[in-house]
Parts: sequence; C-alpha cells; structure tokens
Amino acid sequence: MTKRNVLITGGARGIGAAAARALAEDGHRVFINYVSSTQKATDLVDEITANGDEAFAVQADVRDDHQIKGMFDKINNEFGGVDILVSNANMSFVAKSFMDQTWEEFSQKLNDEMHASYVTAKYAAGSMKEKQFGRLIFISSTLSESPAPTFLAHGSAKGALDSFCKYLAQELGPFGITANIVAPGLVLTDATKNAPDEFKEVIRVHTPTQKIAVPEDVANVIRFLASENSSHLTGTYTPVCGGAYLP
Ligand SMILES: NC(=O)c1ccc[n+]([C@@H]2O[C@H](COP(=O)([O-])OP(=O)(O)OC[C@H]3O[C@@H](n4cnc5c(N)ncnc54)[C@H](OP(=O)(O)O)[C@@H]3O)[C@@H](O)[C@H]2O)c1
Repeated sequence: MTKRNVLITGGARGIGAAAARALAEDGHRVFINYVSSTQKATDLVDEITANGDEAFAVQADVRDDHQIKGMFDKINNEFGGVDILVSNANMSFVAKSFMDQTWEEFSQKLNDEMHASYVTAKYAAGSMKEKQFGRLIFISSTLSESPAPTFLAHGSAKGALDSFCKYLAQELGPFGITANIVAPGLVLTDATKNAPDEFKEVIRVHTPTQKIAVPEDVANVIRFLASENSSHLTGTYTPVCGGAYLP
C-alpha cells in the first residue's frame, strides 16, 4: 500500500476524527485540521502516533483564504502535497423556515460551505494533478436530497456541494483524481448531541437497520473511497444512513 498524505478538515472531533483514526490505521500520514479544538487535535495526534502511525495537527479556519494557504504551504513544502482530501468541516447555519429566514442567514451557510470545499479542493487538486493521483471526498448530508423542516440553508448548501463534486469528477478524472460525496444521515456527534432523545428514537425506528450511526460508520465509507480500490468510482453520492433515505 502506498502511504498517502491525507488532509481532513474539521478532523479533531466527530466524523472527521473517526476518519483520521481509520486513515492513519490504513497507513496514511494524516493532517488533522482544526479551528478551535487545540487540545482535542493534539490528543488525537498523540493517540495515533502512540499506535505507530503518523499524524499532525494543523490549525486553520477553512473560511479564511490566508489560513488555508498557510496550511497547504506547510503540507506542500514539507511533505509534497495532499493526496487525499476529506472536506468535512461543519459550517454552522441558522435553522429557520424559508418565510422566517433572511437572505443573509441563508447565504452565510451557502458561502461558508462552498468556500471551504472549493478553496481546499483547488489547492489539493494542484499537487494531485502533478502526481496523477488524488481522492477528493466531500461530506454532504442526506438532507441535500431529502428536505426536513428548518434545514433549508444546510440542505441547499449540501446540494450545491453535490453538484460541485460531479463537476470536479468530470474535469479531474483524466488526471487520476476522483471526487465523491459521502452523505450521512443522523450521526451521533457534538453537532447532534442536543437533539431530543425522542427525535433520535423516531429516526431510529424509521431506519431499516434500526440504529443511529456513529462516526465510525461514516469513516468506513470514507476509508474505502480514499483507497486504491475505489479508482473507478467517481462522481458518486453515497448515503450513509442505514437505508433511512433511499434515493
Ligand atoms: N452529525 C450529523 O448528524 C451529520 C449528518 C450529516 C452530515 N454531517 C456533516 O458531517 C460533517 C462533520 O460533522 P460532525 O457532526 O462530525 O461535526 P462536529 O462533531 O460538530 O465537528 C465539527 C468539526 O468541524 C470543524 N470546524 C467547524 N468550523 C470550522 C472552520 N471554520 N474551520 C475548520 N474547521 C471547522 C470543527 O473544528 P474544531 O473542533 O476546531 O471546532 C470540528 O472538528 C459536516 O460537514 C456535517 O455537515 C453531519
């Protein structure tokens, strides 16, 4: 197996942290991006290195071009570029219905989500193209295809991400770069810890597998899409939701 450089945005917690553990376990060098979780990122690096694998923490707000450039400069200059990008950072949004929401509230999520994925993918694709190898993995949501009340900004932003991914798949395929969407349903992370238990139970009973996902369920799909074995798979959308949403 070839050791690759993996960058996971928002990698210190939740789905990103599970992906960092899985990809490090698969023998890759993992760069764990974080914005405020310095201690968690450091602890995760220590945990991974204690297992004999390689990881580094890199601080950058993925809404800020200057900070994104600094992060990529470091990886490009010291390690030869990012081979696998997991664009995962969770951009905040205002949960409101269309009639209650303002354009500013709606467009903030749209802009942050797309900016973070667009700029990081642009930097990553540069070195991927030179190496004729790359994996772009974008974390969307089943809410991009299956709407739920008040998730208008979130679902629409993830829908834009889904389309963006298909365009990258088409343009970058000839250079050995694949681009795929992983779309989780409800996953138990900090982002969902305040959702009422009754709500989680409703989701669980309406899920064919009768469970709610943990971050490792999503990480296992990311790890396949990051592997050499997925080389003929690009432009895809994989819902990771136990069949709760069936396209
Ligand atoms: N949980 C779910 O049910 C669910 C369902 C569908 C889709 N998703 C998607 O899955 C992805 C991960 O979600 P999660 O639930 O694992 O999130 P989470 O547990 O809330 O963690 C959020 C992560 O995003 C990072 N982050 C936030 N703003 C950032 C910024 N400006 N720059 C860099 N990093 C930033 C955080 O960094 P710090 O730790 O430094 O604060 C943190 O690591 C998101 O794209 C989310 O939309 C989640």
